[in-house]
Amino acid sequence: MNDTSRDGAEARLEVRVSSKDYLSANGRPQRALEHLELTLAAGEAGAVVGPSGCGKTTLLRIIAGLDADFKGRVSLPASGRLGMVFQEPRLLPWRNVADNLRIAAPHASEDELASLLATLELEEHAGHFPGELSLGLARRVALARALAIKPDLLLLDEPFVSLDAALARDLRKKIAELIDEKRVTTLIVTHDLREAIELADKIFLLSTRPARVGATLRVDAPRRRLDKQTADVLELEARAALEAMRGRV
Ligand SMILES: Nc1ncnc2c1ncn2[C@@H]1O[C@H](COP(=O)(O)OP(=O)(O)O)[C@@H](O)[C@H]1O
Ligand SMILES: [Mg+2]
Repeated sequence: MNDTSRDGAEARLEVRVSSKDYLSANGRPQRALEHLELTLAAGEAGAVVGPSGCGKTTLLRIIAGLDADFKGRVSLPASGRLGMVFQEPRLLPWRNVADNLRIAAPHASEDELASLLATLELEEHAGHFPGELSLGLARRVALARALAIKPDLLLLDEPFVSLDAALARDLRKKIAELIDEKRVTTLIVTHDLREAIELADKIFLLSTRPARVGATLRVDAPRRRLDKQTADVLELEARAALEAMRGRV
């Protein structure tokens, strides 16, 4: 039994997955998520942090409504308009960058699309096809496409993975600015604690499989107001919480 509701009164996200099982190759159910609960208020940015294979993508797919085979409940913001950036950019290969945005957001005006391309420094690539883009650029296009639909909830699955450090830093800065400017409720999945600290208001630390939220940390001065010392302290706190969770498994 599950229930994905789109009639939440406020723009917020509420996730209560009591269980999610996959069938393994030998036909036995394998539990991926168990008693995983998290909430985000309107305009808040959350980060889900956990080791590779713990169930982060599984969780995002459930929130996005791409996987209905779970027990529990997900409540999305009122209109439930979702922007999602997958681990692979998934652009339409036979359409250029501008058309990829137009097709995803047919109601967006040309001015709105142009301004989004400018924000993400993609103007000069508007006529390029996905095959002509580096991974970093393709990720930026995927992010522009997700934002073009003016989402109530933005879901990002490891948006910086396989980018070199400088590119990842640039994109992280861009996303931090966008979260602050557009106040869109955002959930970012990452295995990188520092990334989570630099982007989120709230950090959900996942246990190993089956994943649940073992600890939640608040970042009091998030993103552009965050100083290095505060970030260092948070990182130590988070590492201690992860260590304590491991001790309990
Ligand atoms: N379609 C599937 N069928 C069976 N097992 C799966 C499927 N998708 C993911 N899994 C398993 O569920 C666990 C969590 O996967 P995933 O959510 O992709 O982890 P993460 O994104 O944290 O790396 C892994 O052990 C993975 O092998
Ligand atoms: Mg994943």
